[in-house]
Amino acid sequence: MKSSEIRNRFLKYFEGKGHKILPGSSLVPTDPTVLLTLAGMLQFKPIFLGEEKPQYKTATTVQKCLRMNDIENVGKTARHLTFFEMLGNFSFGDYFKKEAIGFAWELLTEGYALPREKLSAAVFEKDDEAYAIWKDIIKLPENRIFRLDEENNFWSVGPTGPCGPCSEIYYDFGPEKGCGKPNCRPGCDCDRFLEVWNLVFIQYNRNEKEDLIPLKVRGIDTGMGLERLASILQGVDNNFETDLFVPLIKKTLTFTKLQDPSKASLRIVADHTRAMTNLISDGIYPGNTGRGYVLRRIIRRAVRHGKLLGIQKPFLVDLAKEVVAEMKDVYPVLAKREKIICEVIQTEEDNFLTTLKQGMELFNKIMEQHKADKIIPGETAFKLHDTFGFPIELTREIAEENGFKVDEQGFEKAMEGQKERAREAGIPAEKKEKVAKLDLSKLKTTKFLGYEKDSSDAKIIKIFPEEKIVVLDKTPFYGESGGQVGDTGLINDIRVTDTLLSPSGVILHVVEKVDGLKEKAKVKATIDGSRRAAIKAHHTATHLLHKALREVLGDHVTQSGSYVGPDKLRFDFKHFQAMKPEEIAKVERIVNEQIKRKCKVDVSQKSYDEAIKMGAMALFGEKYGDKVRVLDIKDFSTELCGGTHVGSTGEILFFKVLSESALGAGVRRIEAVAGQKAKVNVLYQAKSLKAEVENLLKKYRALQAEKESLGGKQFNETGIFQIELTELESLVNAVDNQDSVNVKKFLDHFRGREEWLEERIVKSEKEIRDIKLKQASGDASSYLSEVKEIAEVKVLAKEFEGHSMQMLRAVSDTLQNQLKSCIVVLASAFPGRLIFLITVTKDLIEKGYSAKKLADIFTQVVGGKGGGKEAKAEGGGKDPSKIREALEKVCASLG
Ligand code: SER
Repeated sequence: MKSSEIRNRFLKYFEGKGHKILPGSSLVPTDPTVLLTLAGMLQFKPIFLGEEKPQYKTATTVQKCLRMNDIENVGKTARHLTFFEMLGNFSFGDYFKKEAIGFAWELLTEGYALPREKLSAAVFEKDDEAYAIWKDIIKLPENRIFRLDEENNFWSVGPTGPCGPCSEIYYDFGPEKGCGKPNCRPGCDCDRFLEVWNLVFIQYNRNEKEDLIPLKVRGIDTGMGLERLASILQGVDNNFETDLFVPLIKKTLTFTKLQDPSKASLRIVADHTRAMTNLISDGIYPGNTGRGYVLRRIIRRAVRHGKLLGIQKPFLVDLAKEVVAEMKDVYPVLAKREKIICEVIQTEEDNFLTTLKQGMELFNKIMEQHKADKIIPGETAFKLHDTFGFPIELTREIAEENGFKVDEQGFEKAMEGQKERAREAGIPAEKKEKVAKLDLSKLKTTKFLGYEKDSSDAKIIKIFPEEKIVVLDKTPFYGESGGQVGDTGLINDIRVTDTLLSPSGVILHVVEKVDGLKEKAKVKATIDGSRRAAIKAHHTATHLLHKALREVLGDHVTQSGSYVGPDKLRFDFKHFQAMKPEEIAKVERIVNEQIKRKCKVDVSQKSYDEAIKMGAMALFGEKYGDKVRVLDIKDFSTELCGGTHVGSTGEILFFKVLSESALGAGVRRIEAVAGQKAKVNVLYQAKSLKAEVENLLKKYRALQAEKESLGGKQFNETGIFQIELTELESLVNAVDNQDSVNVKKFLDHFRGREEWLEERIVKSEKEIRDIKLKQASGDASSYLSEVKEIAEVKVLAKEFEGHSMQMLRAVSDTLQNQLKSCIVVLASAFPGRLIFLITVTKDLIEKGYSAKKLADIFTQVVGGKGGGKEAKAEGGGKDPSKIREALEKVCASLG
């Protein structure tokens, strides 16, 4: 039984039992507590928890899943995979244990006709009810019902969330596949008993304190492994010999000199290629954290196993194409995103291939040196990671394969050191030296008042006259850190030209002169408020930018550095290629939408763990104390940050990207302006928007004219649209006249409104198509006079200009309706190309006429491609001047 039939039969069975067939969800879950979709129930989690009302009481899905916990077993056992498909049926407060078990048993033994005697069941040890159902209702012999412990037969989606006892169904491949141990039974690690289906009786919600809270409404969540079931139904004993894997493994073999398809590396490559292809198609890109890291690990692991197979050149893209071809019917998104899938894999594979060889040389050298202690030093593991791009898991794996261990602590230390360096790298060297020279050991952390105040009384704690540095007990001055520059201002009437922060938290005011300042003296410290306001706008804008980049480019975007000043902001981030202009425009649009939203910027103190749980993005290279400051822009961005920010996004006024460039391999830099600064850019903005709007307007007008010329009814525009249109035109003029009031109005009114015009355009285009279609079929009757009789067959051969295929079809339909028996040959010319349609009525097919054959004659003349069946063939060609000749040839062939 083909895997496609297995999927279908599953869905159809449950549809027959009243379940709604629903689409599976993306591998990227909406649930923030889970990294990747690991089970079919995930999309229903809020329903199980009672937070959402179900639209259907029962449902069934095929869900693509990804689990990393078994990655090291992939290829070593018959059954482990990272990416797999789960067949599931769900009840939301509808049926429960008895029915769930009954359905599963009926479908397996009747729907899929599995031999009853090969099946056994396991239940949670305390679940007498489930035990009794198997024994008394299903009549499964008691020696094939097992009670297993919580680890095996109590399922939960994660540390918290819906959970409950479960019952698993196992297939017995026979003792010869087993470990032979006397206690070998379902749940054993060997390959004899294969867990095929897990039925979870969702009953509880586990809360953060690990209490099991009974749910008001109980549910059913089941999951059957498609690949596993396929292995049984296709008479093989492992996933990799099913139709889901064979084409991939065959393809991989063509890159090698090997014959044996069962080699572990081949299986690993096949599994990993399925995983990477589907991850990328769901919008994940290789990165150093989270999902991006999962993807990177998978790709790089596959590259290495390719090398172990003796493959010398990049090969993953070809395999990914195979995955797309095999799976696109079930997951159309694969075909849509094939190009980006190939691009991403190619970049990542190329990148790693360039360093893998050198990395392995280093690895081998170090293993030679450490023959005795069998330890890979932490420094080496770090170098492999940092210089050669080896994910630490890969290093560990290679080490283990050779009987080595990684010095994990040493590795951690080296990683910490790098973070420290990255953190300090933000502050210019001469400033750092200045700070390093001072003896601050006796000074306490300075109290920073600048989140609330611009000005304050303070006491001088210490003066370093040579460095012209003053330390206060408390201060509104922000010391340069986290990318944000230090404040300037006044201490009494002495200018503060910069403010620094020592690693121990002492704020250092750099002053023009120290004359007139004395230790212990009371002073007034005041920052330059307008400068700080500009800095604040840029800082909050940086957060918006960070989030917008992740939305537009993907989760792999992480900050690798930043500068937040009064003049501009700079944001460095991980991304593997230059941004496209439309991506930059989209980022700008998102940020500006957030500004327009005038959302309150919330700041709170949280424990680090709490903050991460809230979904806060931790910045690379930042170091956090126990309590952290969480900056929350509701429904948009949550980040840890010690900097100063505006109170509402509205204060940012405006955001504009100035440039986007490469900073290094895989690192990009954006420079942008916000706040008052950006207002200067308003005109610039208005001009580019104007160009865009004008273009759209032109297109819109042209479409309107075309429609009128076709005799279509007037555009059915609402009054508001008409008014807005007129206003738009007058405002567009304001840009040329630099009439600032109207420019602002124009921007406020039409920023983001391109879509509104675009919608109209799409609608107009459709209306025009419809009119043309109607006209085409209406005109068709007038062609009756042009119908010829050739060998007693009615034939219309006709050439058009600019008729779409849909229009040709409409003509043919009308003629077929009226003539009943006929051959219709239609062609339509466009500049530099043509299309054609040939149809033959049924009675004539019986007499031996064929649209397909006529199409061959047609394409021989016009050069091009065509295809179809006896009744209808369509195609296209490049040379419209040959249409007449082609039509004549076709007619001649009939005579
Ligand atoms: N959620 C359960 C599992 O993943 C059943 O689908 O095993």
